[in-house]
Amino acid sequence: MTKIAASILSADFANLKHDCTRLLEAGVDLMHFDVMDGHFVPNISYGAPVLKCLHAAMPDVYYDVHLMISDPARYAADFARAGASLITFHLEAVPDTAEEVIAAIRAAGCQVGISIRPGTPVEAVFPYLGVVDLILVMSVEPGFGGQKFIPTTPTRIAAICAERTRRGCDTLIEVDGGINTETGPLCIAAGVDWLVAGSSLFHAMDPAAVVNVLHSK
Ligand code: DX5
Ligand code: ZN
Repeated sequence: MTKIAASILSADFANLKHDCTRLLEAGVDLMHFDVMDGHFVPNISYGAPVLKCLHAAMPDVYYDVHLMISDPARYAADFARAGASLITFHLEAVPDTAEEVIAAIRAAGCQVGISIRPGTPVEAVFPYLGVVDLILVMSVEPGFGGQKFIPTTPTRIAAICAERTRRGCDTLIEVDGGINTETGPLCIAAGVDWLVAGSSLFHAMDPAAVVNVLHSK
């Protein structure tokens, strides 16, 4: 079954624990923690101290940390100490030193993911299949929640899936941006393993209904 990661970027930050608990009770599988530095992306979100508090309040949750920052190797240990389970960085941020970032995240004791923006050819991640734990395919330009899903994304997911099958490896594929009950099933049909959803879950009157639709596909 496809796993659902709730992106806390769409939470009410004054009631973070309450909002996360509500979604976990609705059936989401993990929490997605978006870190933006105002440099790699044109927006600033929150960092390791917030994750540390969330992890202390809810220690049994899997924290899927998505670093949209320029120097991920520098901060990997901070996020690991704060409670990250998996740390994803952007290939575009470190085109020549991805191996070093992977090593830094592993040394910090976390699983590793690599993400690509919508404009980056999917072939860029092929060398990392079987090397990292997860490939994150962005279905919007990273930087903001609540954007519209880019319709070419399922084709991109399917291409990475086909290459994964060809190589016989089990690297997970995740998609992030504009995921809801219409777009999520298109990604599931293309072979995605994890769906990230922010606004469609946090702003839903009945988040369990959204989770149930996505889990049933
Ligand atoms: C975008 C973030 C996403 C975003 C998803 O830069 O990486 O995780 O919060 O939010 P929605 O589901 O609202 O597009
Ligand atoms: Zn994200």
